Amino acid sequence: MRVGLGTGSTVHFTIVALGERVRSGDLEIRCVATSTQTENLANSVGLKVEQPDLVRHLDIAIDGADEVDQRLNLTKGGGGALTREKIVATMADRFIVVVDDSKLVPQLGRFGTPIEVLRFAPEVVADQVRSLGAAEVRFRPEASDNGALLADAFFGEIPDPTGLASALQAVPGLIEHGLFLSSMVDRVVVAESDGSVREISNP
Ligand code: A5P
Repeated sequence: MRVGLGTGSTVHFTIVALGERVRSGDLEIRCVATSTQTENLANSVGLKVEQPDLVRHLDIAIDGADEVDQRLNLTKGGGGALTREKIVATMADRFIVVVDDSKLVPQLGRFGTPIEVLRFAPEVVADQVRSLGAAEVRFRPEASDNGALLADAFFGEIPDPTGLASALQAVPGLIEHGLFLSSMVDRVVVAESDGSVREISNP
């Protein structure tokens, strides 16, 4: 299988487990990574990472999320890898999200919406994002793996993630946003605080 590997502390465990299965000869996979951090981890556990353009199409991508709403819309990008994560998710036949139950929310928004911004005119882009309703746009000190800027936009609760996603998509200089709409998601695997695991399939 060709597998997309997400970024973050939750999918970390998935990657380690995949590495164990590959090393035991139980599994043969080709992988694409969504960040340098994930590529390094994957290499360290014995997974072969290839460039997306060489692989082109994935059977499955597995990634974490910062928020999951009741319709399975996601906020992603807390780790700054949102653009590569969205590309890799769209390469995959199936996109599986792994979270703990603290990530389940009635509506997206409280976490903030991560955005990746071109360096050319970040304050102009931030003005545009504020004009869409963000009370605050906070730039992070660190750059993305793509060398661009990362910021978090705070819209409060987001009643219409689809509408906001389209509006953000239309802002020139905004490279990508961290709203991953439910139409991308096949299944969310939730680790409950009592140690059990629940799977929510997207109907
Ligand atoms: C990385 O940019 C993010 O999209 C992560 O997938 C998300 O922040 C979840 O990370 P954790 O599993 O570390 O909470």
